Amino acid sequence: MKKRLGPQSRCYPMPIPLVLSGVGDEATMFAVAWTTVCGSDPPAIAMVVGRRHHTVALIRETRAFTVNFAPASLAREVDYCGLTSGRDHEKVARTGLTLAPSSVVTPPIIVECPYNLECRFVEEIELATGSLMMVGEIVEAHADEEVLTDDGKSADPGKLDPLVYITGTREYFRLGEHVADAYSAGRELMEERE
Ligand SMILES: Cc1cc2nc3c(=O)[nH]c(=O)nc-3n(C[C@H](O)[C@H](O)[C@H](O)COP(=O)(O)O)c2cc1C
Repeated sequence: MKKRLGPQSRCYPMPIPLVLSGVGDEATMFAVAWTTVCGSDPPAIAMVVGRRHHTVALIRETRAFTVNFAPASLAREVDYCGLTSGRDHEKVARTGLTLAPSSVVTPPIIVECPYNLECRFVEEIELATGSLMMVGEIVEAHADEEVLTDDGKSADPGKLDPLVYITGTREYFRLGEHVADAYSAGRELMEERE
């Protein structure tokens, strides 16, 4: 039996990357759970943001940002970056996270996050819901060698151990185990119909 819960904005799970912008001493980051891929050619990422966030102002200024996927072990640091504003907190110093130069854009990437995307800020859209969506073209990606798949072409989620967010109950989780291959497991049912 299903129970009606009423309208909810809960999706399980959500990513919780650290989105960083600014250059030099100004570089700072915030936690963004409302993030999704929104294009593949060119690759693009969209995030729904609060318009008064300090990092949002830096993204508009530098026209670029990086998306840094933290491992589960950095839950405390990610949460801190979601609780405090770069206007009055030195988040990089306080978390002890290390910044390294990006290859294409000016804002740096976070070394302790094993998977990073460099993005050129291309567009912001006022959604009908009243929220603001910012879109970035992904111009480069980086992964630590230790988290690469055997063919070395992408990051292995098992090795990444990415931090994930559960909205509603406001909890951080880590990923479970591999259950099936996408674009593949469903083929069994397609064949049964024939
Ligand atoms: C778990 C978590 C998820 C969050 N997700 C978002 C989000 O999707 N979009 C957003 O604009 N802010 C989100 N925030 C809030 C910002 O990270 C927070 O307001 C931050 O202090 C803004 O920092 P800034 O002013 O330095 O940019 C989230 C915070 C937490 C703790």
